[in-house]
Amino acid sequence: FDSLEPRTFSIIAHVDHGKSTLADRLLELTGTIPKSGANRQVLDRLKVERERGITVKSQAVSMTYDYETPNADGSVGKKRYLLNLIDTPGHVDFAYEVSRSLAACQSALLVIDASQGIQAQTIANFRVAKALGLPLLPILNKVDLPASDVDRCLVQLEELGIDTADPVHRPLMISAKTGLGVEDVLKAIVERTAAMPGTEDGKVEDRDGKGLRALVFDSWYDSFKGVVALVSIKDGAMKKGNSIVSAHSGKKYEVLDIGVNYPDAKSTGILRKGQVGWVICNMKDMREATIGDTMHLANDKIEPLEGFRPSVPMVYASAYPVETTDFVKLEEAINRLALNDRSITVQRESSMALGQGCRLGFLGTLHAEIFRSRLSEEYGQEILVTAPTVPYRLTRPNGKVSIISSPIDFPSDGDRANKALLLEEPVVHGRLTCPEEYTGEMMQLCSEHRGEELDVNFSEMTGQKRQVELKYRLPMAEIVTDFFPKLKSRSSGYAGFEYEIAEGEEYQSSDLVKLSFQLSGTPIDALSMILHRSKATAEGRIWAKKLKDVVPRQYFEVAVQAFVGGKVVARETVSAYRKDVTAGMYGGDQRRKDKKLKNQKEGRKRMRELNVGRVSIPSESFIKLLDRS
Ligand code: GTP
Repeated sequence: FDSLEPRTFSIIAHVDHGKSTLADRLLELTGTIPKSGANRQVLDRLKVERERGITVKSQAVSMTYDYETPNADGSVGKKRYLLNLIDTPGHVDFAYEVSRSLAACQSALLVIDASQGIQAQTIANFRVAKALGLPLLPILNKVDLPASDVDRCLVQLEELGIDTADPVHRPLMISAKTGLGVEDVLKAIVERTAAMPGTEDGKVEDRDGKGLRALVFDSWYDSFKGVVALVSIKDGAMKKGNSIVSAHSGKKYEVLDIGVNYPDAKSTGILRKGQVGWVICNMKDMREATIGDTMHLANDKIEPLEGFRPSVPMVYASAYPVETTDFVKLEEAINRLALNDRSITVQRESSMALGQGCRLGFLGTLHAEIFRSRLSEEYGQEILVTAPTVPYRLTRPNGKVSIISSPIDFPSDGDRANKALLLEEPVVHGRLTCPEEYTGEMMQLCSEHRGEELDVNFSEMTGQKRQVELKYRLPMAEIVTDFFPKLKSRSSGYAGFEYEIAEGEEYQSSDLVKLSFQLSGTPIDALSMILHRSKATAEGRIWAKKLKDVVPRQYFEVAVQAFVGGKVVARETVSAYRKDVTAGMYGGDQRRKDKKLKNQKEGRKRMRELNVGRVSIPSESFIKLLDRS
C-alpha cells in the first residue's frame, strides 16, 4: 500500500440518495469486496446504523485502483492508486461530524438522487465542504429511475454556484444500483483530486523519522483491541514501534499496531503521508484519543494541525430506567455508549418521581433517538425519556453567564425579578423548501412556531412545479419538538427543512417560564418544561389532560394541576372510587380498619408506581415526537 499515490475522498449526500450503495459499488469495482450486486453497505458497521439506514460514526476504508492512461505509443499504461474513502454521517444533526471527517479528505463526491434533486442535507454538506475548500465532484445518482430529472439537478447545481460546464465540476450521471457510470467515478477521483504535495508516486520525503503530523479525526473503543484512533497522515510517516506524542496532552505512547481497512482491518506496519488508517497505541481511556488532536513523533518539534471546536449539545433530555432498581446498569450502559460518541454529555440527575437518572446532551433530536435505540438494542436497556430541552442562557447583572440545560435549574420568578437575570434562548436560521402551493401553509407553521421571516425566493423551473425557499429565524426550542412531523404532514411530505446556528446570533432574549405539574400537591419534576410564556397556558392544559388520562382512579380524589410561577394555569380532577375508606368506621374493629388502611396504602403505592411509569412522556410517543422522517 505504502508505495501507491494516495487520494483521499469522502461521499456526501442527503439521506437515502445512495451514498452507501455507491460506496459498495466502488469497493466491488476495485476488488476490495467480492461482487455480489447486493446492497451490502459495508460502511455501516453498527447494527443500529444498518437498521435505520443512518450512518453516525465515520469510517475509513482503503482500496487500490488501476488507472489507465494512454501511452505515447498508443498502448495503455496502468498506474495503481490508493483510494481512501472516508464515510460521513448524512444527517443535519451530524453536520459537525461531517466537517470533522471532511477535514481528513482531499475531495468530496456530492451525491444527488436525480429523482429527488438537491435536498436540505445536500446543501448543508455542500456548505461544509466548500468552507473547507474541498474540490467537489457532483454525481447525479439513480438515473435508471424514470422519475430522474437530470436537467433540473443541473439547474439546482448551478444555483448552488457550481459551474457544471467546467471539466473540474462536470457532474457524472450514474446508477449506483446497476453500476452504470460507476467506473467513471473512480477515474474522476484520480483525475480531479490533486495529489497531496510530496506523495506523488508514493514518494514521501524521508526526514529521518521527523515531521510526522497525524490528524486524529475519529476514535472508538473496541472490546478486543482497546482504543482505536482513525488518523489521516498529513506529513511524514507513522510506523509500528514509533514513540508518538499527543500535541494536545503531551502524553507519550507507543504505536502497537497500525494499518488500514481493506475492507477489514489489515496491519501494514506503516502509514505514510496522504494515507488514512487506524492506530492502536497504549491508550487506556477513550478520552486520551482527542478528536482533532495532532500526533507527532517524540523529540520532534512540529506545528500542531488546526484542531476542531468541541461539539456543543443542542438538545438535552433525561433518561431514567423503567425499573428504578436498574439505575446502576443503565448508567454503565450510557457511559459505555457515550465513550464511543463524545458529542454526548452525561450528568447524573435525580427526580422525585423517577429516582436516579442521567441528564444527557445531544447534537439534535435524531441523535437522541439513535442513542435511545442503541441503548435498547445493544444493552437491552429500556428507558423513559423526558421532554427535550434546549440550552438556555442565563446572565447575571455581574456578567456571569451560565447555561440552563434542565428545568430543575430554572430560576424562580422571585429570583428573576429580584436579581435582574437575563434569560435567553438559542435561535437558528432555517431554510425551508417546498412546492409553491404549500407556501401559505408553511409560513403559517413557521409563525406558529415563533418564526421570523427573513427571505422568500421562488425558483423558476421548466416543466416543473415552482419551488419556494423560505428563510426564517426560529427559536431552537420550537424545532426540537413537533416541528418536523408537522412540516411533513402539512406539506404532504414535500417540504424540506435544514437549519444552522447563526454565528454571532446564537441567542435572543426571551420571555421564558417554567411550566410545572402536581398530582394532589406532589410535584412531578420530570414533567416540568421551560417554554415561552405565550405557550405556557395552552401547553399546561394539554399536559394536565394527558396526565389525567394516565392516572387511574384512586380511593380518593386526585387533583392534576399545571403551574406557571405560583399560579395554576390548568386543572383536571381524577374522581375517586370512594371518598374515605375508613369513613363511618367509628370505633369498631381496629383490625378491619387497619386492613382497610393497608389496602388503601397499597392503592397509593400502585399509584406511585404508575406515576413513576407514566408521568414521564411514554417512550413511544417520544420517538414519534422526535421522528423527522
Ligand atoms: P443513508 O446512509 O441513510 O444516508 O443513505 P444512503 O445515502 O447511503 O443511501 P443508500 O445507499 O442506502 O440508498 C438508499 C436507497 O436507494 C436504497 O434502497 C438503494 O437501493 C437505492 N438506490 C441507491 N442507488 C440507486 C440507484 O442508482 N438507482 C436506484 N433505482 N436506486 C438506488
